[in-house]
Amino acid sequence: MPLVSTKEMFEKAYAGGYAIGAFNVNDMEIIQGIVDAAKVEQAPLILQVSAGARKYAKPVYLTKLVEAALIDTDLPIALHLDHGDDFEICKDCIDSGFTSVMIDGSKHPFEKNVELTARVVEYAHKHGVVVEGELGRLAGVEDDVNVSEKDALFTDPVEAAEFVRLTGVDSLAIAIGTSHGAYKFKGTPYLDFGRLQRVGELLPNFPIVLHGASSVPQAFVEKCNSFGGAIPGAQGVPEDMLRKAATMAVCKINIDTDLRLAMTASIREVLANNPAEFDPRKYLGPGREAIQAMVQHKIKNVLGCNNKI
Ligand code: G3H
Ligand code: 13P
Ligand code: ZN
Repeated sequence: MPLVSTKEMFEKAYAGGYAIGAFNVNDMEIIQGIVDAAKVEQAPLILQVSAGARKYAKPVYLTKLVEAALIDTDLPIALHLDHGDDFEICKDCIDSGFTSVMIDGSKHPFEKNVELTARVVEYAHKHGVVVEGELGRLAGVEDDVNVSEKDALFTDPVEAAEFVRLTGVDSLAIAIGTSHGAYKFKGTPYLDFGRLQRVGELLPNFPIVLHGASSVPQAFVEKCNSFGGAIPGAQGVPEDMLRKAATMAVCKINIDTDLRLAMTASIREVLANNPAEFDPRKYLGPGREAIQAMVQHKIKNVLGCNNKI
């Protein structure tokens, strides 16, 4: 099956009260682990590539590995650019066969974000590619952050509706408390479900995206730490909160950090137990299996997109 758009995936996810997992890919083992998990769980899949991944692997290697995944499976897979920060990177991905791009103008003032996003949408739609925009600031939230501080960081629902109307984006990443990396909350985890609810009311049937949605499972943090190298202040988004968001307007949930933790914990364990090992397959293989197990868990227990082909 050729690469698919996320349009139909999101329509079904919205109606079905589940979300599609968007997993970051950087190399062959990560791609294989994710794709094998989706195959077992019969789940639609978004593979996403950041600017950093393109730099690490070279763009053509990643697109060819994703092509191999399409030959290896009948799954509906979308190939998505994660956090494109200018028109040129979006154009490059559209021209090289991506079916979805993100233009992340969230660091710009509203008008500049609108202008940049609308320009990408115009080019992408001409080429049959869908676009994710972003509005609001993803940042760690302190326990004692007050309402006006939250308003300054989090996405304003009225602005979100206006942003979608002005730009024509196909999906929107919003800030309601998640953030990137292994350290997300400085106290009790908190997601602003009231705000998500309001966005859903102002944008009916419109797919919302959650970035920074790793849960940073304690068991993996401890496993990484017990084999050397502590991960500072690790704390993620509780999985029940993500499950709840998936039953609301959230149709795409981005996960990268949890895959990094799973793979690294497994590789550290192999090398700690076999210090003389120097065949990369002996540690990258278990790393790939750890990715598969983590993605199967997310699909079944967090996203709810198993058996949705
Ligand atoms: O949100 C960012 C993703 O986790 C990708 O991270 O830019 O280090 O590839 P990266
Ligand atoms: P995490 O760092 O929580 O995995 O978020 C990944 C992400 O948002 C990729 O765009
Ligand atoms: Zn992100």
